Amino acid sequence: MNTDATPQQQSAGPTTAWWTEAVIYQIYPRSFADANGDGIGDLPGITARLDHFVELGVDAVWLSPFYPSPQADAGYDVADYHDVDPLFGRLGDADRLIAEAHARGLRVIVDLVPNHTSSAHRWFTAALAAAPGSPERARYVFRDGLGPDGGQPPNDWTSVFGGPAWTRVTEPDGRPGQWYLHLFDPGQPDLNWDNPEVRAEFLDVLRFWLDRGVDGFRVDVAHGLIKQADLANWQEPQEILSGSEVDKPRPPMWDQDGVHEVYRDWRRLLDSYDGQRILVAEAWVEPAERLARYVRPDEMHQAFNFEYLTASWTAPAQYAVITRSLEATDAVGAPTTWVLSNHDVVRHASRLGLPVGTPRPNGIGVGDPQPDAALGLRRARAATLLMLALPGSAYLYQGEELGLPEHMTLPDEVRQDPTWERSGHTERGRDGCRVPIPWEADAPSYGFGPTDASWLPQPPSWAEYALDRQRDVPGSTYELYRTALRLRREHGLGRGSLYWLASGDEVVSFRNGDVTVLTNFGATPVPVPAEAELLHASAPLPDDGTVGQDVTVWYRAA
Ligand code: GLC
Ligand code: CA
Repeated sequence: MNTDATPQQQSAGPTTAWWTEAVIYQIYPRSFADANGDGIGDLPGITARLDHFVELGVDAVWLSPFYPSPQADAGYDVADYHDVDPLFGRLGDADRLIAEAHARGLRVIVDLVPNHTSSAHRWFTAALAAAPGSPERARYVFRDGLGPDGGQPPNDWTSVFGGPAWTRVTEPDGRPGQWYLHLFDPGQPDLNWDNPEVRAEFLDVLRFWLDRGVDGFRVDVAHGLIKQADLANWQEPQEILSGSEVDKPRPPMWDQDGVHEVYRDWRRLLDSYDGQRILVAEAWVEPAERLARYVRPDEMHQAFNFEYLTASWTAPAQYAVITRSLEATDAVGAPTTWVLSNHDVVRHASRLGLPVGTPRPNGIGVGDPQPDAALGLRRARAATLLMLALPGSAYLYQGEELGLPEHMTLPDEVRQDPTWERSGHTERGRDGCRVPIPWEADAPSYGFGPTDASWLPQPPSWAEYALDRQRDVPGSTYELYRTALRLRREHGLGRGSLYWLASGDEVVSFRNGDVTVLTNFGATPVPVPAEAELLHASAPLPDDGTVGQDVTVWYRAA
């Protein structure tokens, strides 16, 4: 084993509050469990399956949006922040879900989408009916177009989903009129966060859900709210990710310093409630030092660590990203977070089956380079064991506990992610990670619902991933997760600190409390010390007890 690293002690930050070490499970409501058999998952479906989280051993759930919405972007286009879409149930179903979760000791985090509303929101309808320069338009980002007839968009920004970031409206008198900004779909007009009315409204939305008992908010596109005042041209293709070096100019639409004032206001409000309610930033901001600004003591509690999610599967890359992440959050006294999959990226069981160094694909379809499924799952299991041994808080995405791969043979006609159309059919988008998950191998829709309806088709190969084929089966991915989560709790890994033992070209190894963790990325088998007690392994070890390629082990040194 290569032990050339300087031993380094890094901690997970303060250790008193639940969220500093929580494992938080992301529910994508439309694909989790369907109670009424219409093919779309719903809140009663989730409530009926809450015991799954207790059995798995997570601390909290985060639900992607379930608010009334035309579903132009799967609910990330919110038409009413104070209600539940009939697709998913009623407000009473949300209350029941929260109460039943709390009765099981689970916390509930809901999604908040402040960067934009739906174009069906009453505010936007009013803005379209009102005149240029009106207070109604001032809640959004309306501008006159360029050129003699105003026929050109106000600047060169493009939408994250492809195409221009501006759409021209027809004025109430029937003439072509102003343009409005949408960093995402045209059905998602960006709000104007310089407007006090917008700020007041969102404080009200926070109160509404805090009063209903939620334990926190995952804040969508948290780095996008404030735009550079001059809306300067950017001349670069749009990406949701902002920056890569501290001193580089930042894109005028992302990570502007003004966003932090918003989160300070929100934090004050949350702190006035009992029970440690939290804010989690979805901020695609790099490097880690810039991201850490979102989790300063008077701002948010956590931020997703997308630098970790996107890091290459090599020992040096993993060592570097873990070290940098811990240093950056330590500097502001916040816990680090870790995540490998979510509803916006190719599932890690498939992503890691692509050749190392492949740029992160936006969906995989028929005709695209296909991952090696067995290799992907082997690495995914090793990556998960590495992640769950790290100090801090970890996020899981529904289905990863089953080792679920991306659905890579979805017919293009059924795709629903706006990315597919808006990119001119060049990017498949995110549907492949959003397919309803399998619970029972032999039931209709694999137990997703009582019928075989499923808003995206499930592939026939998914029977083997069903929960009932894995429960109590030694070596299954589900049991791998359960054991890992139990050991993580028993050994206090989430609140521990990390002491590096090795960071070579092929191996990373560290100690966290009484647990030693080792991942072998290389072809040469690595021995575990003779008297060590093996606690967990991402794959069976051979008789000589060595750790093979793409395997993580947890052991207790003698
Ligand atoms: C976030 C969400 C993503 C959504 C986008 C626009 O990145 O995770 O699903 O499309 O924001 O709201
Ligand atoms: Ca349903």
